[in-house]
Amino acid sequence: MKIKKYFVIGNPIEHSLSPKVQNQWIKENNIDAVYDKIKLNANQIKNFIQNIKNQEIAGCNVTIPFKNIVIPFTDNLTLEAEQTQSVNTIVFDNGKLVGHNTDIAGFYKAIKSLNFNMEGKKVLILGAGGVVSSIILALKKLKVLNITVSNRTRSKAENLKILFKDLNVVEWGSLPEFDIIINATSLGLNNEKINLDFSKIGKNKLFYDVIYNPSETEFLKKGRELGNKTENGKLMFLYQACEAFKLWHDKEPSINEEIFKLLDND
Ligand code: ATR
Repeated sequence: MKIKKYFVIGNPIEHSLSPKVQNQWIKENNIDAVYDKIKLNANQIKNFIQNIKNQEIAGCNVTIPFKNIVIPFTDNLTLEAEQTQSVNTIVFDNGKLVGHNTDIAGFYKAIKSLNFNMEGKKVLILGAGGVVSSIILALKKLKVLNITVSNRTRSKAENLKILFKDLNVVEWGSLPEFDIIINATSLGLNNEKINLDFSKIGKNKLFYDVIYNPSETEFLKKGRELGNKTENGKLMFLYQACEAFKLWHDKEPSINEEIFKLLDND
């Protein structure tokens, strides 16, 4: 049998750590497959996905900025992919291309592992990019009280109200009361600061950053120094990868020291 080829598609894609993680799990489970990253332009997506339909390619992960763009090229969406209008994993199932969203379970499981009670809490999300609809759906499953989104380009936050009617939207730069604050912007990837004054917010909140490299952004450092719990996006990344692996290979991969080390090396 031909070796099965999997990819993560995105643009940019250079920094994706998915190949490292997926290839390690492929090796551990003695699967005859290989996983690579590929940078595509929007006009190449249709052809690429056609290659999954004709099984030249076994399946793929989808990252920024294509999580929504791939949707018309799939045959079916899971309910969660439909609800978030976001697909990060494509699976070939019984002749059909199925769009899944494992970011939701990724975030959900990462938060569950923290032992921070989310029920009835107020959440502020900074950013309105590709992953935010998944985070919102997971937060709803975690039974938070309300969710407010603040994004530099306000219209992108307003657009999320089409999917989630009860979302609050505030101006970029304002700081409403919160119990949990989530940085889902790219600010911090290159040590940029987020211009918000947290000095009066009190303690024992949760500061969560989707970014995991660097492992402590300025945002998390500030949160920690002010006496709050902090967490970066590493577990979310690993859990979404784990869920995709299970969908393709029907095997449970291990999230262990070795996998954490793979991510630290970069
Ligand atoms: P995309 O927006 O293409 O989905 P993303 O990486 O998922 O890409 O999202 C980047 C997020 O970081 C966006 O919310 C973006 O805000 P805009 O919608 O206004 O672009 C936010 N972001 C990036 N650079 C920023 C900056 N300098 N200040 C504030 N927000 C920024």
